Amino acid sequence: TRILSVASECAPLIKTGGLADVVGALPAALTALGDEVKTLVPGYPAVMEKLGKTKEVAVFDDLFGGSAGLLSTKSAGLDLLVLDAPHLFDRVGGPYLGPDGKDWPDNPERFAALSWVAAHVAVQGAGGWVPQVVHGHDWQAGFTPEYLHGMGCDVPFVFTIHNVAFHGNAPADRLGSLRLDPWRFTPGHFEFWGQISALKAGLMGAQRITTVSQTYAEELLTAEFGIGMDGILRDRQAVLNGIVNGIDTDVWNPETDPEITPYKAPKGKQANKDALRAEFGLPEADGPLCVLVSRLTQQKGIDLLIDAIDALLERGGQLALLGSGDPALEAAVQHLATRHPNVAVRIGYDEGLSHRMMAGADAILVPSRFEPCGLTQLYGLRYGTVPLVALTGGLADTVINASPAALARGVATGIQFFPITGRALANAFGRLCDLYDTPKVWTAMQRNAMKQPVGWETSAAAYHALYDAVTEG
Ligand code: ADP
Ligand code: GLC
Repeated sequence: TRILSVASECAPLIKTGGLADVVGALPAALTALGDEVKTLVPGYPAVMEKLGKTKEVAVFDDLFGGSAGLLSTKSAGLDLLVLDAPHLFDRVGGPYLGPDGKDWPDNPERFAALSWVAAHVAVQGAGGWVPQVVHGHDWQAGFTPEYLHGMGCDVPFVFTIHNVAFHGNAPADRLGSLRLDPWRFTPGHFEFWGQISALKAGLMGAQRITTVSQTYAEELLTAEFGIGMDGILRDRQAVLNGIVNGIDTDVWNPETDPEITPYKAPKGKQANKDALRAEFGLPEADGPLCVLVSRLTQQKGIDLLIDAIDALLERGGQLALLGSGDPALEAAVQHLATRHPNVAVRIGYDEGLSHRMMAGADAILVPSRFEPCGLTQLYGLRYGTVPLVALTGGLADTVINASPAALARGVATGIQFFPITGRALANAFGRLCDLYDTPKVWTAMQRNAMKQPVGWETSAAAYHALYDAVTEG
């Protein structure tokens, strides 16, 4: 099938989170199954500077307030369509936030333009290539079915929810600037409590909706996790399903990772552990060395970790944390590091360091309040770094909790805690330390973890079948 994938991020060109990893890695897995994927991304400076030879396949005299071009190119093994629209994307700052840390005020228009161009490609093609399916990711691609409708095109639209918390809302007076049909500003289309919602537009207009784990697909139907979209998703439950993310097992491979001392078996982690302690300035210790690599936001449960950390430190455990985000959480974790010699913190974004942490640590922590899929626990599994995770979303689906039953069968790969509170996390630290103090059991868990399939094969096949299903219709 010919698929146009539409997203606001794509690794390794531009990344703020797991969305980029998924959008960047899935095409290769689909290509292996005979699909043909082109990925449409915005031409942010970080993207433009990485491009080699490009070919202009479309020009737009007035794309939401300025002229723009569509560039076709290959980069990092990906077939790309890059939307070169300087008035929207050529800015100093991140994909969504300006240097002041606030959303760009014209975010609705910026990603509406991306979605409009997706529809345009579905109708007109790009350099002679016409997709059979448009696959949009998150709210940034949400208006695509609206524009497809406006252009009279009935190519199927598949919509993946990576995080339902972001709605991409705009006030009703932006209908004109977003080039939306005012007659469709109704609850049956994209009106959401008086606002225009890009996420809702995508959910209402999609032939099929997917999300990134089965548990999250179920959670989304509840008020607690659906964040206002649960009613819509209950109505559309028949076309909603969960397909768990994989990871790029070439990029995340402990046997070949250039950032680390390569290893095949858990005992090979020791050299990496020594190096990691040295890098973070942590002393030798008797307990497990835990790491956390994350955006620092409310979602990620960083405050729960701060509440519970004493339970780990009392047992001789250690924490090395890499992250950035909410200034208050950054300050809070830095404060923790000044108080405890066994806590070390790096504020920032560092891909290489994240690999070294995964290789050197005993355990990877993911105490998220909600987690549609989560990727760092998958890296942990692959690197024999035992995941300690909240029992939610993809964390529930990818980790086998060291329950008595799982231990008896010898299949445990990690530890899950529930309810998602500081107290339960503190208890989980106790269980972690008990297991760590039982080397035979601990090593068996590491081995199980390293054997668990975490690549894209199974899930790519599920997407492949989904594309087949919507194009046969
Ligand atoms: P989310 O998409 O919600 O942020 P995921 O677990 O799906 O969560 O993906 C996060 C991705 O971003 C992972 O690849 C993780 O390693 C990476 N990441 C997050 N923070 C950092 C950081 N500070 N440095 C390096 N990589 C990071
Ligand atoms: C979102 C979710 C995360 C998921 C990622 C990729 O950012 O927060 O759980 O892994 O998307 O699908």
